[in-house]
Amino acid sequence: MVQHEAEVEHDSEVEHRAGVEQGAGVGHSADVLLRDAVQRLSAAGVPSPRVDAEVLAAHVLDVSRGRLAAMAIAGSTLTAAQTERFTELVGERADRVPLQHLTGAAPFRHLQLRVGPGVFIPRPETEQVAQAALEKLASMAQNRPADWTPRVVDLGTGSGALAAAIATEHPQAEVHAVELSASAVAWAELNLAPLGVTLHQRDLREVPPEWEASFDVVVSNPPYIPEGMVPREEEVRVHDPELALYGGGADGLAMPFAVIETAKRLLVPGGWFILEHAEVQAPALAAHCRADAALSAVATHQDLTGRDRATSATLDEEPASHMKECPA
Ligand SMILES: C[S@@+](CC[C@H](N)C(=O)[O-])C[C@H]1O[C@@H](n2cnc3c(N)ncnc32)[C@H](O)[C@@H]1O
Repeated sequence: MVQHEAEVEHDSEVEHRAGVEQGAGVGHSADVLLRDAVQRLSAAGVPSPRVDAEVLAAHVLDVSRGRLAAMAIAGSTLTAAQTERFTELVGERADRVPLQHLTGAAPFRHLQLRVGPGVFIPRPETEQVAQAALEKLASMAQNRPADWTPRVVDLGTGSGALAAAIATEHPQAEVHAVELSASAVAWAELNLAPLGVTLHQRDLREVPPEWEASFDVVVSNPPYIPEGMVPREEEVRVHDPELALYGGGADGLAMPFAVIETAKRLLVPGGWFILEHAEVQAPALAAHCRADAALSAVATHQDLTGRDRATSATLDEEPASHMKECPA
């Protein structure tokens, strides 16, 4: 009985509130909803609560963040359905579901990539890897005929971020992408098929012999987190696939080394590769490449915060020359 009375009271309270809002011709204030969401996300430890609240509200309303800000200032309101959807999404974000899974999109350079459960969310630092590859392609093109079609491959493409950036920003290139995970391939297909990138579901360590010495540029952001070094952020630890994170071995370098070995097989003489890695791994990867007689012009690349986050090298023009130094 007590329970019944409480339910009645609750229902009538809700009806009353709804009636007042409808009667007054107003919905739920965007400004108030945003402020409540920021508080809720802050309390949950979300690192950028204001940005996330705005992105989610803009997503629900299908407007830009700029337009949302203008709407909030102008005292605009959300309908009951929009408020419910926004509140649901804020709740999921407070449970540390990645923002990009909630909106279904991840920005990468000028692209909006489709992402969700089962695929690694592209990171801003990888945009610099794409930038370095695009600059290399531009400089290589200067010494080639005007109709040169460089062949580029992205090893461990995930959502297709690097491959998509290169296909759109260097449209002369013939771009291929390799990915092992079936769930990542499903997302990559959505992003890459419209761009004409050829996607191959396979292990990047086992490429077919006919691919050998046929690519001008190899790009990769492979898994590189050391075994046992579990990421602190719940969004990464729980929602990024394990296959995308752990590079193998106590130093996490097994996959980065495998990428270098595959790149050496895939590149034409004079071809170039770049791979992303953690800052602490930069000296080991540079030393590994410098110790390799087949590689030259080894370089370390910084991200926008000045951290050493990628290594590149060129496969020698005349691979036979270094063989002379190794009579065995
Ligand atoms: C760190 S994620 C990077 C994804 C994407 N390149 C990016 O930057 O957003 C590494 C990717 O490599 C894939 N991967 C891991 N091991 C692989 C293997 N042996 N062969 C092919 N892909 C692999 C993972 O599934 C994951 O999608």
